[in-house]
Amino acid sequence: MRLIRKTLCTVFIVTVPLGILFLWTLSPKYNVVDIRYRTNGVPNGLERDRLWMPSKKYAHISFRMKEDVVGLLSSNSCTCESEGTVPNLPFSNNLFGHIFAFHFEDSFSSSTVERMKKNREREYQNFLLRSQTPADKLIVAKANSPLQYPIQGVEVRPLKTILIPGLAIQASPMEMYRVNLTANLGTFRLSAVVQDVQVEGEGEMNLSLSSTQLDNLNRQLSFVTYTNTLFHPNTADTVTFETDEHQAYFTIKVRYPPTPKLYDSGSPGGYNISALVTIATKTFLRYDKLKALISSIRKYYPTVNIIIADDSEDPERVEGPYIEQYFMPFGKGWFAGRNLAISQVTTKYFLWVDDDFIFSADTKIEKLVDVLEKTKLDLVGGAVKEITGVATTFRQKITVEPGGEDGDCLHTRRGYYQTIEGFPNCVITDGVVNFFLARIEKAQQVGFDPRLARVAHLEFFIDGLGALHVGSCDDVVVHHASKIKLFWQKTETEKLYSKFRHPDSTTNNLKIKHGLFYFKNRFKCLTRN
Ligand SMILES: *[C@@H]1O[C@H](CO)[C@@H](O)[C@H](O)[C@H]1NC(C)=O
Ligand SMILES: *[C@@H]1O[C@H](CO)[C@@H](O)[C@H](O)[C@H]1NC(C)=O
Ligand SMILES: *[C@@H]1O[C@H](CO)[C@@H](O)[C@H](O)[C@H]1NC(C)=O
Repeated sequence: MRLIRKTLCTVFIVTVPLGILFLWTLSPKYNVVDIRYRTNGVPNGLERDRLWMPSKKYAHISFRMKEDVVGLLSSNSCTCESEGTVPNLPFSNNLFGHIFAFHFEDSFSSSTVERMKKNREREYQNFLLRSQTPADKLIVAKANSPLQYPIQGVEVRPLKTILIPGLAIQASPMEMYRVNLTANLGTFRLSAVVQDVQVEGEGEMNLSLSSTQLDNLNRQLSFVTYTNTLFHPNTADTVTFETDEHQAYFTIKVRYPPTPKLYDSGSPGGYNISALVTIATKTFLRYDKLKALISSIRKYYPTVNIIIADDSEDPERVEGPYIEQYFMPFGKGWFAGRNLAISQVTTKYFLWVDDDFIFSADTKIEKLVDVLEKTKLDLVGGAVKEITGVATTFRQKITVEPGGEDGDCLHTRRGYYQTIEGFPNCVITDGVVNFFLARIEKAQQVGFDPRLARVAHLEFFIDGLGALHVGSCDDVVVHHASKIKLFWQKTETEKLYSKFRHPDSTTNNLKIKHGLFYFKNRFKCLTRN
């Protein structure tokens, strides 16, 4: 017994390193892996530039531009303009609905702008390198190509092998048929050998196949495999496929498929809200309001978890079942608190509420859960009813126009796009009120930028543009504890709260916000209504 074990052990010690050595000699060697961005993948210029680059062959043919259509193409020269003039009164924006423009450079001295712009450009170029792959590159299929190949949908996991589907040539009769395949990040092999086909470069980045028999060559092409050899888990390989005088390109995506993060939603039909949703809020000084919120929640959802982020100076403990209160350094701020609160959520969804909201019979979380369970939306907002009886959904459409070196233009407008099929009270939009249900993992991906300490809300949706799919329903309503109150009726706590929450606009806070729009989001200006 011992002898057998000893022998096995020896065999093991000898064969394993040999095996590894053997595998190592087989695979192409990269001591240094260059995972910098390859410039061959830079996406082509803007739509409008293409109009001015016709092929030489057609240069003599005259044409008449249609300005109304050309105007729809992006030109990388956006501007922000105000529309209409209104008296400069508080709330005049809301009353007259005019479009207001703001240029972020105006917030800073010219030397600061110079420096910010230079640093911003450097960071922006790095961002482009990280966020694009050769699969973003425009590839045009040339006319009358005898080559058949896959246009899209070919994907390989890093360092793995796939069979390339769809390769063939349809050529007119000739003496010798020849094709070449060239890759940049991997090698070609044949999974089967077909007679009367000459092969060169097997196991390399260039594979040449030739035959006097077209059918044999095509049979051989169906056995071509691609092995990714350069480890770079999120990119694409552009493969060249050529025969005499004809060339085609296609991309093979190199990536790990996203790892799922699944939550059990229970049986379909009735939703167990306590298992699916965590209510998250941030409080600062307003404990009377917070306690009213919690007791209103408990009337309808006695066991749902409530997470409270608290950055008050002398925090008060809020006790009770299913309550987690997190204390933060004094005055850390609005978004830092939201970020902390959502970082502690363990359910599939979280419901964001402000600490001065009150639940009622119309605050049906089930309805919002149903929307997220049955659609591809990531976040859905409800309505907040003011003491005046007006319910607001604060639906915002956000667009970004390319603006060249100075940065892009941000435009926000009240409104929405379409009604959601099957949910007549719900619409698609880009930003919503601060009462919403969201998929925890998507919201965490976007994150609440903790640098936005005061007055901030829409910034989350601007950061989330392109990542979050947002809806808004007006039939799920939460009440807002009174805001309209005369100043001398405020308690000391409320006065302190207002000082932090509504600093006058000359303070640092607006400047921080403008700086983030200018540098972080690379906007030069905004318009809104
Ligand atoms: C592969 O083919 C390409 C294009 O024909 C050529 O530029 C490159 O040098 C070749 N590489 C090897 C290793 O043969
Ligand atoms: C294939 O590649 C070889 C070596 O790079 C080259 O000599 C030959 O002309 C190429 N054939 C075609 C059809 O492009
Ligand atoms: C709902 O979920 C909670 C928390 O996971 C659990 O304790 C409770 O038993 C569930 N209720 C039902 C009816 O399944």
